[in-house]
Amino acid sequence: MSLLAKLIPNLEKIGLDFPLLARCINGKRIVYLDNGATSQKPDTVISAMNHFYTQDNANVHRGIHQLSQRATMEYENAHQVVADFIGASFEEIIFTRGTTESLNFLAEALTKNLQPGDEIVLSQMEHHSNLVPWLQQAKERKLGIRYIPITNDYRLDMEQAQKLITLKTKAVSVAHMSNVLGTINDIPTLAKLAHKVGAVLIVDAAQSVPHLTIDVHDLGCDFLVFSGHKMYGPTGIGVLYGKKRLLEQLNPFQYGGGMIREVTFEYATWNDLPWKFEAGTPPIAEAIGLSAAVGYLTAQGMQHLKEHEQQLTQYTLQKLSEIQGLTIVGPGTTKHRGPVISFTLQGLHPHDVSELLDREGIAVRGGHHCAMPLLNLLGLEGVTRVSLAIYNTKDDIDQLFEAIHKAVRIFQ
Ligand code: ALA
Repeated sequence: MSLLAKLIPNLEKIGLDFPLLARCINGKRIVYLDNGATSQKPDTVISAMNHFYTQDNANVHRGIHQLSQRATMEYENAHQVVADFIGASFEEIIFTRGTTESLNFLAEALTKNLQPGDEIVLSQMEHHSNLVPWLQQAKERKLGIRYIPITNDYRLDMEQAQKLITLKTKAVSVAHMSNVLGTINDIPTLAKLAHKVGAVLIVDAAQSVPHLTIDVHDLGCDFLVFSGHKMYGPTGIGVLYGKKRLLEQLNPFQYGGGMIREVTFEYATWNDLPWKFEAGTPPIAEAIGLSAAVGYLTAQGMQHLKEHEQQLTQYTLQKLSEIQGLTIVGPGTTKHRGPVISFTLQGLHPHDVSELLDREGIAVRGGHHCAMPLLNLLGLEGVTRVSLAIYNTKDDIDQLFEAIHKAVRIFQ
């Protein structure tokens, strides 16, 4: 048994819970290292959704019949499960289509009443989904956007952050974990800086939620957003957490059935939280799947999983650093980073690296990773990204190591 397997009981078995991992690609055992894009799904998630469609399928909040009541109960329970997972309360959890939809809503809702010259603070390591919605609003409302720069060791420059967050700042929106660099940002300090000037802090937790124990109170954030599909749940569902007091002040972003209290031919009034923000038929099966994903993570133990992923990240960094011509783009140790590891390989384009690895059954992502401004800043066309999950093992990394060597040999 490997050292990692010894440290984490049941580790050897985790992969067996994910049916897709049993398949082969190009005649080779699949090594799935593209979890930053989306994760694989355990049996429990697939069967929870299957069970819903075969046993309980009905719309929610609309029927007196038994199926509708069961569907409603399961859908509402999913809100509670997600709330408990991040230390929030039931009313503070809104289901959206994903991180991108949550951020688009916040960018619009939080800038609506701003004045020309007011400022939004982002960072240089943001994904397009936490950048373009703000750029659009800034253009329409003549707002300023300031970017917290990154340091030479790929972290946020917190001294600069302190200078950039001023009385002009109305919102600060940053990634918890960079989807390119793997850097974990100091959210509690940013929350303090934002609150000192009366601004709100929004956290894009799409990459961190599958890997870290999240407590919105410990983070000190006002809003936190993430997607179901990167945390072993289904696509088509995401979460928008907001402090109850703040959500109460915001207007709905979509209108229709389910989100109203009363409608006449002249006016409409809004339902209670969280339904005020969930217009139309919501993603019911997806919410049930997401709830099952949270159940799966909780049963394994988040701390346990984090330790495993940290050790595997350290092992990956060490193995990759042995390859000549390979440069890690991100913090060199696990102290300030998560299991998202990007690199360049001298003389090889990331798309070629990805293709050569695919021939060996290894799935990674190569390119700009929806973070073009960051890549431009670093003077890079793209990077190859290895993003780990709970089912990855030391053997996966050894296979990656051999495959990169092979790719290098082909191009020499
Ligand atoms: N945002 C996802 C990624 O970084 C799709 O790959």
